[in-house]
Amino acid sequence: MKLLITGGAGFLGTRLARTLLARGVLAGRTVDRIVLADLVAPADAALCDDARVEVRTGDLLAMTAALRGEAFDGVFHLASAVSAECEADFDLGMRSNLDATRALLEALRAAGNVPRLVFSSSCAVYGSDPALPLPAVVHDDTLPTPQTSYGIQKFIGEQLVADCTRKGFVDGRSARLMTVSVRPGKPNRAASGFLSGIVREPLAGQPALCPVAPSTRIVLSSPARTVEGLIAVYEAAREAFGGRTALNLPALSVTVQDMLDGLRAVGGEQALALVRFAPDEAVARIVEGWPARVESTRAQRLGLQADADFESIVRQYVAEHPQAAALAR
Ligand SMILES: NC(=O)c1ccc[n+]([C@@H]2O[C@H](COP(=O)([O-])OP(=O)(O)OC[C@H]3O[C@@H](n4cnc5c(N)ncnc54)[C@H](O)[C@@H]3O)[C@@H](O)[C@H]2O)c1
Repeated sequence: MKLLITGGAGFLGTRLARTLLARGVLAGRTVDRIVLADLVAPADAALCDDARVEVRTGDLLAMTAALRGEAFDGVFHLASAVSAECEADFDLGMRSNLDATRALLEALRAAGNVPRLVFSSSCAVYGSDPALPLPAVVHDDTLPTPQTSYGIQKFIGEQLVADCTRKGFVDGRSARLMTVSVRPGKPNRAASGFLSGIVREPLAGQPALCPVAPSTRIVLSSPARTVEGLIAVYEAAREAFGGRTALNLPALSVTVQDMLDGLRAVGGEQALALVRFAPDEAVARIVEGWPARVESTRAQRLGLQADADFESIVRQYVAEHPQAAALAR
């Protein structure tokens, strides 16, 4: 089978590609080819060197014209500008997240073979509107009222995927990802970036700023569980996925203090001492508007579970990136 991963050079795109290549099979079919489409080539040389991988670089919106005549069996649509970028640059978010998603769906429709498509939406579709305050626990059927441009673009993307599925253009499934932590490498421009930074940087012996209070409660998922979720959503039978609306991937609900406790358990007092609180109202406003507890009943029906606790997520990060975690014990 031939797969397309948009955003294939990103954090989750490369991890997903590596996982699919290692499995060799998706939904009972052999993975023969994976096209990684992104603004840049993946940094992972081994991934690019795999004979089954084809790297295409450029803006997705521009690339979609060429995709109109190309049939893919499956698509993971992960390309996206991130939350803080979309707040800072409205036009960038609309182009990268909305226009490109619509153009991609049009291209897949034009190809005419009804590919299966997973769209990576986000828990950022949820927010508190004065007329519709966010409930204490968000469920699959909680009405999203996004409070950021990024959240709005993701919610519209879900609806486009649902309608193109209803029309029979694609077999689409949208999954709302929780904030993925611990993200390796350099900080990105997501408002949630510190939720990895406050662990990753101290474990590497570097200082980190925390822009929100320790009592701030958020929902998280490890990289491994998140990729497992994307694959399970792809592999689910249409009836098992249930409907065309997006489902919530499983979420571990923790406070920032819980995260720091996990950091201390793995990196000791020395690592913890590297975290400094530096309140940033703009980031706090965005993050505090996101759900603090999420129920993922539909994902559980697909056999998916949240991570057990934050310490296990930190240990997973250290096991995968020992060279970047000098302070881990
Ligand atoms: N990581 C998280 O915490 C998280 C949480 C919720 C949802 N998501 C969603 O999951 C997906 C993957 O996230 P990630 O963490 O890997 O993000 P990432 O930023 O690491 O990867 C996204 C990739 O998309 C590419 N991209 C952006 N605009 C593009 C364009 N116009 N044309 C082509 N490529 C473009 C970027 O170059 C980047 O490599 C995104 O859709 C994101 O919104 C992620």
